Amino acid sequence: MNEYEIREITRNYPLSLLLDADPDIKKIEKYLNKGRCFGLFLNGTLIAEYVLKANKKEKSAEIVNLSVAEEHRRKGYARILINDALKRSKEEGFKSVRIATGKDSFQQIFYQSCGFEICAVEKDYFPNNYDAPVIDGGIELKDRVCLKKVLE
Ligand SMILES: CC(C)(COP(=O)(O)OP(=O)(O)OC[C@H]1O[C@@H](n2cnc3c(N)ncnc32)[C@H](O)[C@@H]1OP(=O)(O)O)[C@@H](O)C(=O)NCCC(=O)NCCS
Repeated sequence: MNEYEIREITRNYPLSLLLDADPDIKKIEKYLNKGRCFGLFLNGTLIAEYVLKANKKEKSAEIVNLSVAEEHRRKGYARILINDALKRSKEEGFKSVRIATGKDSFQQIFYQSCGFEICAVEKDYFPNNYDAPVIDGGIELKDRVCLKKVLE
């Protein structure tokens, strides 16, 4: 793998990456306001990001957006970002990390392989919370699965 670094982005957010993971710009603006965006820079070029939002009351962090540029997918960068989010959350004193995605998607399986466990399924979350159908891999998403990893 080439040289990469992960650092916080505080302005000029990578909109096309963010929109690839979440087509609702209003939702993105809302969580960018409260959360922190971290970018993975490959030889100086931003190729992936995640947004981490804290729920201080629950001592839990949530990865609310995760995206890798199409031409850099399937090379392990998302796994690197998930591990970065887990490490950062632990260092900051959070007890668990949450993430949500389409039920039965490859993303769900990937998060489970990172140690996340299903804690809830929200029926018809996508049609109920988005103005237009949310399509992933050619399939319309209906139910959302919420996963949680307890930090040891
Ligand atoms: C989901 C996403 C972030 C994965 O990024 P990535 O860098 O390609 O993922 P990785 O290379 O780290 O792969 C992680 C695991 O997922 C699997 N995976 C990745 N893409 C896959 C695909 N299209 N189909 C099936 N499995 C896939 C990989 O095989 C890997 O598992 P393995 O380590 O057991 O082989 C990327 O596809 C993306 O940005 N998609 C659009 C936005 C999105 O869906 N974000 C998540 C919203 S919940």
